[in-house]
Amino acid sequence: MNTSNPRPNDIFNEEDSNTSSNPHIDAVVSARLSRRSMLLSGVGAAGGALLGGIGLSGCATSATAGAGAATLSAPLSTLGFAAVGKSLMDTVTVADGYQTQVLYALGDPLTASTPAYKNDGTDTDFDKRAGDHHDGMEWFGLDANGKPSTSSTQRALLAINHEATTDEKLSSFFLHANGGTSKLPRPASEVDKELAIHGVSVVEIEAKGSQWAYKAGSPFNRRVTTMTEVLVHGPAKGSEHLVTKFSPDGTRARGTLNNCGTGKTPWNTFVSGEENWSGYFYRDAKDDDRRGKKNPQVLGLDRYGRKAGAASRHGWESAGAGDSYVRWNNGALASDAKSDYRNEMNTFGYVVEMDAYNSRLAVRKRTGLGRFAHESVSFAKPVPGQPIVAYMGDDSRGEYMYKFVSSAKWDAADAHSANPLDVGDKYLDKGTLYAASFKADGTGQWLELSMANPIVAANPDFAFKSDADIAIFTRLAADAVNATKMDRPEWGGVNPRTGDFYMTLTNNSNRTVDGEMGVDAANPRTYTDLKAGKEQKGNVNGHIIRVAQANPADTKFTWDIYLFASEADADKTRVNLSNLTDDNELSAPDGLVFSPSTGVCWIQTDDGAMTDKTNCMLLAAIPGKVGDGSSKTLTYKREDGSEKRVDTPMGKAQSADILKRFLVGPVNCEITGLCESPDGRAMFINIQHPGELTPMADIGNPAKYTSHWPANAGYGAGQRPRSATIVITKKDGGVIGS
Ligand code: FEO
Ligand code: CA
Ligand code: CA
Repeated sequence: MNTSNPRPNDIFNEEDSNTSSNPHIDAVVSARLSRRSMLLSGVGAAGGALLGGIGLSGCATSATAGAGAATLSAPLSTLGFAAVGKSLMDTVTVADGYQTQVLYALGDPLTASTPAYKNDGTDTDFDKRAGDHHDGMEWFGLDANGKPSTSSTQRALLAINHEATTDEKLSSFFLHANGGTSKLPRPASEVDKELAIHGVSVVEIEAKGSQWAYKAGSPFNRRVTTMTEVLVHGPAKGSEHLVTKFSPDGTRARGTLNNCGTGKTPWNTFVSGEENWSGYFYRDAKDDDRRGKKNPQVLGLDRYGRKAGAASRHGWESAGAGDSYVRWNNGALASDAKSDYRNEMNTFGYVVEMDAYNSRLAVRKRTGLGRFAHESVSFAKPVPGQPIVAYMGDDSRGEYMYKFVSSAKWDAADAHSANPLDVGDKYLDKGTLYAASFKADGTGQWLELSMANPIVAANPDFAFKSDADIAIFTRLAADAVNATKMDRPEWGGVNPRTGDFYMTLTNNSNRTVDGEMGVDAANPRTYTDLKAGKEQKGNVNGHIIRVAQANPADTKFTWDIYLFASEADADKTRVNLSNLTDDNELSAPDGLVFSPSTGVCWIQTDDGAMTDKTNCMLLAAIPGKVGDGSSKTLTYKREDGSEKRVDTPMGKAQSADILKRFLVGPVNCEITGLCESPDGRAMFINIQHPGELTPMADIGNPAKYTSHWPANAGYGAGQRPRSATIVITKKDGGVIGS
C-alpha cells in the first residue's frame, strides 16, 4: 500500500513510532567513534580495502547462491528493449516484443473441489484459495517427476505472500457482497474471510509452450493463514513475552501476517517478512494503567505502534467470543499471560521460514533475525567456512537497516539437504544481529545488538535481560546504539556481479532539514513536490542506498546512494540528482530484485506521489558499484538565514541505456514480487491492489470501480479488481531484458 494514498484509514504503512531521541548522524559521529572502538571487536582487517570496490571475479556465479540460484551465465550489460512510456491506463503495458498473461488471482481455487471464484463478494473458503494482495514471491523449480529442481524452467512452485487487503473503514469491501460492515462489532462471517485471505500461498505452475497455467489440484498447493499453527524458533523461543493462552510455554504461535518481502535461503527454502502487523491488534484505553506505565511491555507496545485505545485495522477482536477473534485483543485482561492474549502481538514481526516443497512441515518463526516491520531478506553469497549473512530493513519512517550473521559457518553440503528447515535451524537460530550506522564520509558500521554490547545491556531506557528480549524488542535495542534513522527501508537485493547490497528507501514524509529526522548523508533530501496542485513534503520520491563489504560478516562497510528517485522535471541540484529523464523517472522504489540469471536489477514502485502522471511501474537497471560516482553537496537554507550543508556520496548519474521503464501496471496498483525461471525467459511479477481507491460506497456500482483489472484483460468472472500474479515472456522466446 502506498503512503500518499488519501484513504483515511491507510495509516498502517504510516506507522510512525520512532520517537527515540536517537540523534541524527551529524551530531553523533564523534561521540560514536569512541564508543564503537570499545564495543566493536569484530572489525575485519579487510575493511580498509572496501572503497576500492569489489571485483567482478569472485562473485559472478550466483545471486542468492546455493541450491536455489541459477548460474549467472549471461550477464546483460545492455538493456535490449525500448523504454515504455508512462501510463494512466487500466492495463498492464509492457515493452514492445513482450507479452503478459494473468496466471493466479485473488480467490482462485487451490484444490480441485473448491468452486470457481465468482468474484461477487459471496465466495468463501479462502483457506483453499489464493489470498489477497499478492506481494513478495519466489520460484522453486520442479522436474518432470515433481522433484525439486534448480534447473527446471517449465514447472515450478511459486511461494507468494498475501500481504493485506483493500479496505476502508475496517472492511475488506471487495470480499463482501455489499461491501461489508464498517462499524464495530464486525460480523464473524466477514472476519473469517479476512483472517483467511492473509498469509502465504504455494501454488504449482507449469508451461505448455508459451502459455503458463497454475494447477488447481496440485498436492503441493498450500495456504498458510493468520490461523495456521507455527513454531517459534531462535532466541525468543519460550520467552515470557511470548506466553499466551494458546501457547503457555511460548514455543508455538498462530499464523503469519502482513507478509511483504521475501527471500530464498542458500538451502532453498522460502523466507517471508511480517511487516505492518501492529495495526491488526487492539487494546483498550486503560491497558497502560492496568499493566503499569513502567512495564516494559508498555514501552514495547508503544515503540511498535500499538497505543492503548487506538482502533485496529479491521476490528477482528470484536467478532465474538471465539478464540480466533479474542486473540486480536492484546490487552492484559485476565489474571496472567497464560490466560489472555496480552502477548499475542509479540508473536508477530518476524521472518518466517517455510519449506515450499513440503506442505506438511510447520512454518518456523526465526526470531534471531529480530522483530520489526520486516520486508525482504537478502542473503550474501555463501562462502564455505564463513557465516551466513542476511541483510534486512524495517519499513517505517525513521527506522533502521539490519544485518544478521550466523554463528554456524557455511557447509556447502547443506545446500542440498533433504531436511532444509533443519538447516535453517542451524544457520538462523543462532547468530548476531546488527543495525546500520551511516557516516558522512561514505563509511559505516554495523552495531551489535546483543547482551555482549554494553550499550544495549546497560541501556537505561529499556532493561534488556537476555538476547530473547533483544529479539522481541529489537527496535529498542537499535535505538540504544544510535543506528541511523532511514527513509523507510523496503526491499533489498545483493548484486551478483559485485556482492554489493542494495536497499530501497521508499519515501519519508517526516524527513526535515533539522530535528530528530533531520537530513543526513544517507537520507539527504527533503523538498516540496506538487501533485495536482497539492504540496507533498519530505523525501517525497525515495532513493536506493547500497553497501559494499569485502567480507559480508565484517562490521565495517562503505556505501553510496545508487539512485535518487524523482520526477524528470524536478530541480537537478536538489531533487533530480540522478539526472532522470522521461524514460526512467520514477517515484517510491519499493520492490528490488536482482535477476539470478542476467544480473539485471529490477526496481518496482509503490507510489502515491507521481500517480497523477503514471501508474506504478517496473524498471530494469544495470548498476555499477559502490564508489562509481562522486560526492554531492546539498545546501538547505533555514528560515533564520543560516545554511545546512549535507555531503553525500552518490553513484554515477543515470541514463536510459542503464535504467529504463519496462512495464506499467493498471490503475491504483503496486508492482511487486518478482522471480524468474532459471533461464531468465519467464518472469513472474505481482500486481497488488488494483482499484484500491474505489470508494467503498460504490461497491454496488461496478462502473465506478477505479480499476476492472484483471477482468478487463479477459481473466475470471465479475468486475471487482483482484490482485494477481502475471507471467511475462518475450515473444521470440528470448531472455527477459535482452
Ligand atoms: Fe509491504 Fe513496506 O511494503
Ligand atoms: Ca509531482
Ligand atoms: Ca512493499
